[in-house]
Amino acid sequence: MTVVEESPRQDIPGVPVRIGQARGGPPRSQVLRRDNWRLQPILVAAGLLVFIGYSTWAALRNGDFYAGHLGRDYLSPYYSPCLTHSCTTAGYVWGGWSWWRISPAWLILVFPGAFRTTCYYYRKSYYRSFWLSPPACAVADAGSTNPGGVRSRYTGETLFPLILQNVHRFTWYFAVIFAGILTWDAIAAFRFPNGIGLGVGTLLFVAQAVLIWAYTLGCHACRHLCGGGLKRLSKAPVRHFFWKHVSTPLNHHHQLFAWCSLISIMVTDLYVWLVASGTIHDPRII
Ligand code: FES
Repeated sequence: MTVVEESPRQDIPGVPVRIGQARGGPPRSQVLRRDNWRLQPILVAAGLLVFIGYSTWAALRNGDFYAGHLGRDYLSPYYSPCLTHSCTTAGYVWGGWSWWRISPAWLILVFPGAFRTTCYYYRKSYYRSFWLSPPACAVADAGSTNPGGVRSRYTGETLFPLILQNVHRFTWYFAVIFAGILTWDAIAAFRFPNGIGLGVGTLLFVAQAVLIWAYTLGCHACRHLCGGGLKRLSKAPVRHFFWKHVSTPLNHHHQLFAWCSLISIMVTDLYVWLVASGTIHDPRII
């Protein structure tokens, strides 16, 4: 079979992307996109800001994160596992640490926060939406409009602090632990005062656990763990099996699961807060 190498388009002006060189891409004066390319970075920025704002409020709330006193074993994902002394009032304790004085949510958020912040998909999202670097394909990099400025040279992720993005593969192991904990929470959500039951909240917890697993297992680090470092996948049928199934559909739809799991975390916490604070009643289905 003849392999035809694609040559760079001669009709598109611009600087090639090279580490240590001037920022690549087309010059600002050239408009190569005719579509509404601004829409996606705006929507992504809006979505991420909503999540950051909501999560900050949820963490600072430091209350109504467990609905056990109303007969529902629903624990907010922002507070799970509940490790500190303040959780003892909730009756749902993993740790009982008395030395921790502020909201226990901060203890939890650091792990999934590190996992998501260094995720390849989210990196692309905030590089484009917040740093405009570049805001979209075939659009000038915001740094390239500032020749001689701090961002005029392209360094990729080779320097501090962006070189820290390499910890992503290690944060994946913590993410697996947290996915397991949220699975336990989903099982606990079936526990009702007089036995096993099913409430609307239970469905939210199950959906959340499924989406978290879909996002976590679709991670590029997981894909590499399954099939990376092999010369021939066909010689390792077990690893090939796992690689194939985390690649398609999980890795293939990683962006979709990133957003769906993010939204499910907010919705589940909001629901637990509404139930735990007595604002709404959790309808029991079975
Ligand atoms: S690449 Fe997105 S979670 Fe790893």
